[in-house]
Amino acid sequence: MTTDISLDEVHLGEFDLSDQAFWTAPRSYREGAFTTLRDTPGLAFYEEAVIEDSPFPRGPGYFAVTRHDDIWHVSRHPKLFCSGKGANIGDLPQEMNEFFGSMINMDDPKHFRLRSIVSKGFTPKEVGKVEEYVHDKAVRIIDRLNTDFPDKTCDFVENVAAALPLEIICDMMGIPEEDYGKVLGWTNTILGVGDPEFVGTYEDLMGQSLQMFMYAQTLGESRRADPQDDITSVMMAAEVDGEQLTPQEFGSFFILLVVAGNETTRNAISHGLKAFTDHPDQRDLLYENFETHSKTAVEEVVRWATPVIHFRRTATEDTEVGGQLVQEGQKLVMFYNSGNRDERVYADPHRFDVTRPVNPAQIGFGAGGPHFCLGANLARREMTVMFDEIRKRLPSLRITGEPDYLQSAFINGIKRMQCAWD
Ligand code: HEM
Repeated sequence: MTTDISLDEVHLGEFDLSDQAFWTAPRSYREGAFTTLRDTPGLAFYEEAVIEDSPFPRGPGYFAVTRHDDIWHVSRHPKLFCSGKGANIGDLPQEMNEFFGSMINMDDPKHFRLRSIVSKGFTPKEVGKVEEYVHDKAVRIIDRLNTDFPDKTCDFVENVAAALPLEIICDMMGIPEEDYGKVLGWTNTILGVGDPEFVGTYEDLMGQSLQMFMYAQTLGESRRADPQDDITSVMMAAEVDGEQLTPQEFGSFFILLVVAGNETTRNAISHGLKAFTDHPDQRDLLYENFETHSKTAVEEVVRWATPVIHFRRTATEDTEVGGQLVQEGQKLVMFYNSGNRDERVYADPHRFDVTRPVNPAQIGFGAGGPHFCLGANLARREMTVMFDEIRKRLPSLRITGEPDYLQSAFINGIKRMQCAWD
């Protein structure tokens, strides 16, 4: 619960969003800090973190965009606030931005072309094809808990939350089962930057990304030559204005998709069960009236968890955001976690409420505009099915240990968390 926030103890300047330690401080402290930021006129400016081993110079700093309406404004004006200079805080050379981030680091017309092609793999028809598979997978994951863990306790993240999104995205892409573990290892490394458990050096990160890229290129080329019933084949065959994806473009998109599709949904499911455990009244409300509340409950879990903490934009001309003058070339970092707790738009935002109206929309999948999460409907489906199967098959499933959080300013991750059932 976050009701123990004492705003008197938190002042601007006492905390630093670029300091990893801020992101491992107690949640109540962080919530207090963001409340202060939202209430402070203008935008706060921060120095960038020093990334050890990075061969690139430290960037010039960034404005923190923390109010819901300001995030909405920045996200929906892509000509004024571009993504092409990078959607993460640190600067990389242009080719590396596209290598690592694919379309998340692009602007139109490049972004439009790529998104038009890959969207063909995410039509309702393609997502619909995995519906039954999502259900079967969720059933198998829950049912095997009793067989695999006779003591009725295990790590929820590894055995429940991680298994579903990984297997779904790998299956959609046509990745064989024996390679699932390898893919999970790569995504952990890429998103675990900053957490000592996952990444040793900058070189490790580059090495692992390159392996993933090469794996994807081979997969893409083989599906172009010999199409199968998977979205890799659909994407490799798709054409926009007579052009197809190059294997390199597919390689980079693969990195984005696998990373974006796995860790986010996994963390949403983990935070979800933690929230249901901490708020049994809300769990009971959902479990007893699943049809009525599942839609709002899933949105509330994404709002509550905000699995992706931020994305960055860069001003393309001098402008103003939230009363703050911003100059061309300056960076703005949208803190979705803060926008999702903004008391100006959400009543009682620190309350977990599975009946919270979906309007105004939570901004965990982005605040609208051209980069809005491509996998939002798939993620919603996976979460709904998973919570439904937990409710039906193992309703006593609950979190028993303190979560071991990922040390990251980018992903609100849970690495491990013990659960139990009766
Ligand atoms: C709960 C789960 C998820 C969360 C919280 C989430 C969050 C986000 C956010 C915040 C963005 C940036 C939006 C913006 O800048 O406007 C994004 C973009 C994206 N997401 Fe998700 N995501 C989730 C699941 C997924 C899944 C399951 C997939 C695919 C299988 C996916 C694929 C993508 C892609 C490809 C983009 C880039 C879109 C673009 O640049 O045009 N995401 N997501």
